[in-house]
Amino acid sequence: MTRNSLFKILSVAAVLALLVVACGDDDDDDPTATSPSEGGAPTATRESSDGGGGGDGDPLIAMGEQLYSEQGCSGCHSVDGSDNVGPSWQGIYNSEEELEDGSTVTVDDAYIAESITDPGAKIVSGYQNIMPPYANFTDEQISAVTAYIASLAE
Ligand code: HEC
Repeated sequence: MTRNSLFKILSVAAVLALLVVACGDDDDDDPTATSPSEGGAPTATRESSDGGGGGDGDPLIAMGEQLYSEQGCSGCHSVDGSDNVGPSWQGIYNSEEELEDGSTVTVDDAYIAESITDPGAKIVSGYQNIMPPYANFTDEQISAVTAYIASLAE
């Protein structure tokens, strides 16, 4: 081995070592690195929302409101009567609604539960069958959303 090639090997090794050190530093120091959220299923509502500090009363309604924004319902449903991809939730509770097939349905607890877990079962007239099923919603989450919708009744 000549002196020259030994020198080459050494410089390559030095560059590699520098790279490794630099990358290591980056990883350690980067304060913006975000760890991936754990688990796949939406478990966003584990934090206790009871205690009733800020809301006006019912913790179930507060939980429903939280689900509304955290689970993406707000992307398609308004709560102020304005039209969106889906029907507004304002004033629908206990009202009669026309379905795509011309029949009518009363927006009660059972219908809301079905609309969440199996949205394609009954399509509201004038809307598309594009709502994703939230089949993993627990009974508690369904009650919470129902309570929230009921609170928007007037
Ligand atoms: C991608 C848009 C989209 C998202 C996200 C979405 N929905 Fe819907 N939803 C719709 C559409 C469109 C309809 C009307 C068609 C139908 O009946 O499936 C609907 C209908 C409903 C109805 C029946 C409303 C009525 O007037 O009869 C309920 C209740 C409902 N959604 C609840 C929810 C809940 C709860 C969430 C969040 C967990 C949610 N939706 C998320 C699009 C969406």
